Amino acid sequence: MTLQIKSLEEYHKVYKGSIDQPEKFWAKQARTFEWRKPWKKVLEYEFDSPNVKWFIGGKLNITENCLDRHLKDRGDQIALIWEPNDPSQVYKTYTYKELYTEVCRCANMLKANGIKKGDRVCFYMPMVPELTIAVLACARIGAIHSVVFAGFSANALADRIKDATCKMVICSDYNARGAKLIPVKAVVDEALTMDCDSVETVLVFKNTGDKVKMKRNRDKWWHNEIEGQRKTCRAAQMDSEDILFILYTSGSTGKPKGVVHTCGGYMVYTCFSFKNVFQYKPGDIYWCTADIGWITGHSYIIYGPLLAGATTMMFEGVPTFPDAGRFWHICEKHKVNQFYTAPTAIRALMAKGDHWPTHYDLNSLKVLGTVGEPINEEAWNWYKEKIGKNKLPIVDTWWQTETGGIMISGLGDISPQKPTYAGYPLPGIQMCLVNSDGKEIRGKDKEGLLCIKFPWPSMIRTTYGDHERCRQVYFSAFKGMYFTGDGARRDKKGMYRIIGRVDDVINVSGHRMGTAEVENAINEHPQVIESAVVGYPHDIKGQGIYAYVISQDKAVDDAFRKEILQVVTKEIGPIAKPDKIQFVSGLPKTRSGKIMRRILRKIASGDTSRLGDVSTLLNPEVVKAIKAGALS
Ligand code: WT7
Repeated sequence: MTLQIKSLEEYHKVYKGSIDQPEKFWAKQARTFEWRKPWKKVLEYEFDSPNVKWFIGGKLNITENCLDRHLKDRGDQIALIWEPNDPSQVYKTYTYKELYTEVCRCANMLKANGIKKGDRVCFYMPMVPELTIAVLACARIGAIHSVVFAGFSANALADRIKDATCKMVICSDYNARGAKLIPVKAVVDEALTMDCDSVETVLVFKNTGDKVKMKRNRDKWWHNEIEGQRKTCRAAQMDSEDILFILYTSGSTGKPKGVVHTCGGYMVYTCFSFKNVFQYKPGDIYWCTADIGWITGHSYIIYGPLLAGATTMMFEGVPTFPDAGRFWHICEKHKVNQFYTAPTAIRALMAKGDHWPTHYDLNSLKVLGTVGEPINEEAWNWYKEKIGKNKLPIVDTWWQTETGGIMISGLGDISPQKPTYAGYPLPGIQMCLVNSDGKEIRGKDKEGLLCIKFPWPSMIRTTYGDHERCRQVYFSAFKGMYFTGDGARRDKKGMYRIIGRVDDVINVSGHRMGTAEVENAINEHPQVIESAVVGYPHDIKGQGIYAYVISQDKAVDDAFRKEILQVVTKEIGPIAKPDKIQFVSGLPKTRSGKIMRRILRKIASGDTSRLGDVSTLLNPEVVKAIKAGALS
């Protein structure tokens, strides 16, 4: 069984061992899984290219480790609980045996529809069990899944389908989210009008049963296709370094990139980190509220928990439907032991009043987790007091789509608690701080740019179809290091606190967005000449989106603002809509034509006092006008 650390002393000991002899440490963890063929070499790496390979020559199938492996000992244990959007609807459960059968049937359905090893399958689905089943079915036959969060627009979906040249799209008819009904199939239809020539089949899961159009010879109903499929499906033999999935994420420039994760290392690391961070014990009910459209859902709803033989829950709805007690109601109803959510959800629920959690019995809870953005002290304290009754540990887990798994976090109740600090790195994770010259900052009580100086099993291997971009974004800033894009502080005890992004990436309600991406969307409006987007502190969302827009021949009024919001919704999705739009006559630029975002960020945050030296600007006079017109 994968190691589960039981005390702080043991953590420090294991950590040291994992750094002194990383290959030995990870080989030991990897041996606790089932491999068709053992690896010949644990690790080969070189950060310049980058070229990272773990468990070289090893053959496996991750679903045999998620499912088959558990059938003997816990076949009748519940693997998956599904809690529907509508609380009056009955919830569903799947035992490991049942989940195994459903995954096999689904895998056979995919094969019958022409999906083969290496093919890319795009998902645009609500949080229903069929999403988990079909993701695992892809992994079972060696197809590569690319899950797209169903809040993205048709344009954004089309970009992702094209980039990965997906052969199939799996979607639902409609999604039910809170009181809303979202026409998912119609969005897919629209996306497929945009040169998505690679798509041969659209598989539609009947979710709400509302009417949709089906295109002949392309669109097929899930329930028709799955009928009569065999209940077993031999798993494809995968190489450790074969691609398991692609997941798109935003960076500081250009379009979102497809982060590639591979089978072997990802399996070992997600299971290991899950067991240790959440201190999962057999019989526990674990709930992560994330959407499977993000990495958190991949690693800590599906793979990590199932690899560890846990009972994992997925929730279709939203935290405030039918009311702000929903999360706590679900915790009581299913006797949840580990609860994992995002600071933005905590802040939103906190704003609804302290009484909501008091209506429910939260005594089953043992560990509270948070992820996605820095958690402010107020939210941390509220979580600790009102949900944890001052008794439960909070694990503040820092990681990224690219890291595949949690890098810095407390381990259940073992680690020291310090509000707003993520804490110590997990075993095998060699975090460091560097200054802007790339020199490592050693010692305690220091601040710097957060890097990782040694490979870990679940790290990004490439950006799909563009390896150079991967090198450039993550491995070119500092030699021999992976650069995270975050700034951090290390305290006297070596615990880390994440300060936030130091690049042009903003984090809105835990959703990662490139400012350039939002600008490009705004610029699609024919009357927009130029725009600049920055983040600013927002009470609930963590960061809000502030857009400065230069327009042409157009009355700068609310109707225009609305049009801009529509364009952004169309290009990216509603999550990228600016909270504030300020029309300006010019943007502060350096002599080389670069927008001085530092100034714009300050003004957006409401701090117009000390803007620093603006004399080097090409157009210092615009700063005054922007200040005067700033929106509060
Ligand atoms: C960025 C990665 C990893 C799952 C969710 C987000 C920020 C993430 C924390 C945390 C402070 C955090 C960072 C990071 N972030 N977790 N616990 N404390 N910041 O994944 O979309 O790839 O975003 O989210 O800025 O770089 P992602």
